[in-house]
Order: sequence, then C-alpha cells, then structure tokens
Amino acid sequence: MFEALSTVIDKELCTGCGLCVEICPVQALSIRDGKAAVTGSFSLNCGHCMAVCPTEAIKVGALESTMSKFKTFAADDRWLSYGEYDTTQLAGLMGSRRSCRSFLDTPVDRRILEDLVKLGCTAPSATNCQMWTFTILPCRKDVEHLGRLIGDFYAKLNAMAEKSWLRSIMKLVGKPELDQYYKNYYEFVKQGMEQFRQTGRDPLFYGAPSVIVVACDQRASLPKEDAMLATQNMLLAAHSLGLGSCLIGMAVEAMKHEPSIRQSLHIPDTEAVYAIIALGYSRETYERQTGRKQAAIRFFETSS
Ligand SMILES: Cc1cc2nc3c(=O)[nH]c(=O)nc-3n(C[C@H](O)[C@H](O)[C@H](O)COP(=O)(O)O)c2cc1C
Repeated sequence: MFEALSTVIDKELCTGCGLCVEICPVQALSIRDGKAAVTGSFSLNCGHCMAVCPTEAIKVGALESTMSKFKTFAADDRWLSYGEYDTTQLAGLMGSRRSCRSFLDTPVDRRILEDLVKLGCTAPSATNCQMWTFTILPCRKDVEHLGRLIGDFYAKLNAMAEKSWLRSIMKLVGKPELDQYYKNYYEFVKQGMEQFRQTGRDPLFYGAPSVIVVACDQRASLPKEDAMLATQNMLLAAHSLGLGSCLIGMAVEAMKHEPSIRQSLHIPDTEAVYAIIALGYSRETYERQTGRKQAAIRFFETSS
C-alpha cells in the first residue's frame, strides 16, 4: 500500500542536518553531497520529514494544504509538544460527548459539516492510505429518504423474523442470524416502527437534520479501523463545535445487507460503509458526566 514519492527538497534551504532522514519511517531519504535527497522508491507520504525540518526545506506534494484550513473556527497549525495540551479540557470533552437521540430541526451549516470531515481526516490510517470517504447529507429531506429506505429493509426483516418456521429452517441450515436478530432486535424494531406510525417520531435518526456516512475503499489495508478512527475524531469535534451526534449502527447493518441503499447515495461498490453519524443541534442537555463501567485493565510484566 506504499505510494509513489511526492517529496520535494529545496537544496537552497536544506542544511543537511539529517533530521528528515532519521524520522522517515520507510527510509525514503538520505544525505547526498551534504544535503537531504529523495533516494527511496516509495513513501507513506506521512509528512514527518516536512514537519521536522527546521528550515522548511521540504514539501510533500501529496499533502493537501486546504485540508488543514477550516471555515468555521480559527485553527492553530503550530505543533503542540508532548504534554502541552490541557488534559483537563480534553478529558472534559471526551466525558461530555454523549449520543444524542433528540435533535432540533435547525439545519447545520455545510461549512461546519465540511470542517468536521477535515477534522476526522486528522486520524491515523494504516499505511497512511486515507482511503476513507465521507458522504454528507446536509438536508433533512435526504435524511428522511434514507430513513425510509432503511425502514423498508427492517420491515421486511421483521416480517421474515416473525415466522418461527423460517427461523428454525435457517438455523438447521447453519444460518442462525435470523433467530439471533429475532431475539435481540425484533421487538425493539417493531416498537420503533409502531411509534413512527403513531407519532411520526423518527426512531432511526432521531430527527437529525444531517448525516455523514463514513465509508472506505476496500483496497485499504485496514479499512474498518481507518473509518472508525476518523469517525471518533468527528464525534469529539462535533461536540466541540456545538453539535450533538449519534452513531447509527442499525443503518450501517441495513446498508451491509441491502447494497441498493448504499447505491442510492452514489457510494460505489468498491467502498464499504462503516459508520453513519446523525448530526445536529441537540435538544438534550445534561447536569454532569457519568463515567463508564469498570473496564478490564491489565498490566502484564514478567517477574524479574
Ligand atoms: C458501533 C456503534 C453503533 C451504534 N448504533 C446505535 C444505533 O443504531 N442507535 C442508537 O441510538 N445508538 C447507537 N450507538 C450509540 C450507543 O448506544 C452509545 O454509544 C452507548 O450507549 C454509550 O453512550 P454514549 O455514546 O452517550 O456515551 C452506537 C454506538 C456504536 C459505537
């Protein structure tokens, strides 16, 4: 998954200090005639060399400067040293983000949605391939349409799952998934659909005015991991930008089993969808953070 080199070194500015050579994870650079030179044949295009250079002698062409330009907040592109960021603030943001299940109708400015995606892209990706894609639905009418397609999928699934003979046959032929669905989700989905019919309350996207679908090209080495890391960045950034968010795994599952839903958003067959984020201004506010269940935390060290 390594890429062609796009590193350019300005020989006038280069002092030959060698920091770039030392930091490069794939040994693409070396010192020739007292100056840094691109001598490898492939690169991660990660930009470590560009970031470390004291004289700004290096440019990595594959890195797009507009990806670090934001329209809705002032960015500071200075590199923060280890420990320089305020951990109290960071922990407060992490602990305050909650899944939002009631959104105001207020639409979200497209520029905020675009900035969110750019912040998502600051996540690491395996071999830095960044083959993630983001399909933004900025309008409630499109979110509603997507909700209807997904609702149709679950209506069909529930109709199948309520047939006990079908669940038994499927189990007998080594496909227990329908039975598992019946046990875990059937009732919940049925209630949601009934509530929607009676009250119009959106049980899937909770009235969110916008949605971002995070997918990744299947040629990426670890597409799911990459997509989910970008997603987590976006969830945190959304809270910071004043937005509520909720991951909608039910929608991801529907797209996995019914490709026409993905295709309806013009997401190509070469990509798989890993996260669907409902986004908007939240009706919910809280008094406090609540923390988490006890995690299994282990230290492992061999006794000396
Ligand atoms: C992969 C994944 C899928 C999820 N899918 C849904 C979903 O379909 N509907 C929903 O209301 N919440 C969904 N959630 C939100 C979780 O229920 C929520 O993260 C969890 O209850 C913890 O609450 P918090 O996010 O407020 O901290 C999902 C979360 C994850 C990580």
